[in-house]
Amino acid sequence: MKAAIEVDARDVTGDIDPAVYGHFIENMARCIYGGLLRNERPGDPRGPWHVNEDVVRLVSELEPPVVRWPGGLYADTYHWRDGVGPLRSRPLNRNRYWSRLGPATRVLDPHAFGSDEFMAFAESVGARPYVNVNLGTGTPDEAAAWVEYMNGPAETVGGGLRSSYGREQPYGVRTWGIGNEMYGGWAPGHLGAGEYAARYLEYRRAMAEVDGGLECVAVGAPSFLDENWNRKVLEVAGAEIDLLSIHIYFPSIETAPLVALQRRLSGAEGMFKAVVASPIECEGVLRSAASDIESVMGAGSNVKVTLDEWNLWWKPSQVLNARWTLRDALFTCGMFHAFHRCADFLKMANVSMLVNMLGLIRVSGPRVFRTALYYPFWMYGRLAGPRSIRSHVSCGSFDTPRLGRIPPLNEVPLLDCSATSSSDGSTVTVFVINRDFTDDIEAEISLEGFEPAGEVDLHCLRGPHALAENTFDDDEVVSVSRTTVDAGDVLPRYRFPAHSATALVLKG
Ligand code: AHR
Repeated sequence: MKAAIEVDARDVTGDIDPAVYGHFIENMARCIYGGLLRNERPGDPRGPWHVNEDVVRLVSELEPPVVRWPGGLYADTYHWRDGVGPLRSRPLNRNRYWSRLGPATRVLDPHAFGSDEFMAFAESVGARPYVNVNLGTGTPDEAAAWVEYMNGPAETVGGGLRSSYGREQPYGVRTWGIGNEMYGGWAPGHLGAGEYAARYLEYRRAMAEVDGGLECVAVGAPSFLDENWNRKVLEVAGAEIDLLSIHIYFPSIETAPLVALQRRLSGAEGMFKAVVASPIECEGVLRSAASDIESVMGAGSNVKVTLDEWNLWWKPSQVLNARWTLRDALFTCGMFHAFHRCADFLKMANVSMLVNMLGLIRVSGPRVFRTALYYPFWMYGRLAGPRSIRSHVSCGSFDTPRLGRIPPLNEVPLLDCSATSSSDGSTVTVFVINRDFTDDIEAEISLEGFEPAGEVDLHCLRGPHALAENTFDDDEVVSVSRTTVDAGDVLPRYRFPAHSATALVLKG
């Protein structure tokens, strides 16, 4: 079948918040200790721990918009006072949440990466901080005191404490999450929706007394886990919620044995199809949260959605050793296309996670490498414009098998397009994912309302085959190639390589 891509630069469908290319770090497995931080005295849990400068360099190159910390589930067991002040007086205990998963995550917690260390990291990579307070085992007073530590002037009790530890200027942390996945029996302090909403209000009000300018994130639930949670929370607390948080892990670790069986039955190509098509299902989950907001708060409500944890996750070993392939990178690109399409209500997204644990960057001892998942962040975070513009694709399609939590999908288009423009309209970037496992696809490309002039920057995320992966020895097996071509080389027809994502950056 012939393929055609139509882009209309006159039709702006939403403003893309750059925070959708955001990140998340948690004290789990070797994300922070042994990932972001290097132990100068290996074997001694007290370290000293120093930031791994190679990791910082790679993260900086992504120009990360925002980083969420300290969790996740860990946040609901975290007491911030354990992580401030002189390192030698900070407690050393078992990781209060993740120790339960066994040796891989049963690491001692030296509290060497606390508030000031997190802020120093965020500042060093140029990211906005997003801090999650402990609703599970903490109190509203403890959360309010943390806000004062971070944001209070030096004359306040909290700000004075921060000053005495060396930082006089307030950090001005604006975005605060209140609890994490409280709907789940696995969450410390798990609550029903109505109880959670009431507790959320206690926290928010205590925190707002300290700083009236906070943006607060309430726990929402993905529709596949609980269809009623969001509406119940919004009915009680909606007027004081800025962002409703959703988490999506596909095909999901809870279904690990089933996924293993389904992978055997559907083979590499079946799994490829299910994974690269699954952003369609994720988009449905995000839209369902937006429709919960609209049904309770009315159209045009100020409550927006954040997908503050998302990734692929299908087997336990991925917490230490996630072998991401080109397939998984194309899933990530598809997620960005979904985020662009949801631009009118999606204000942030934080991939889980930045280092080691399901990470974009892998670290082992002194060695560091960029996994296949690193490159979509590099490509979209830097090339996508702030405005989403309308695009339409006609092309062949495929069906996918069920894979854990990913349902079977029919007639999935082989090409997925998202187009953006710069705020002055002088640049249009057309992103195209070719989800064909084996074949290139040639497409006619038509542009309305935009006249490209001169050269086109052509970026292509690809690898030698759909399941290619990077390693410590070579982290450019899957990577982004960059060339400059004449507009006539890509318009009106271009051949998109099999299993790839292409960005055509067109200047007017
Ligand atoms: O990303 C790891 C964990 O997965 C997070 O702590 C939790 O929020 C989610 O269930």
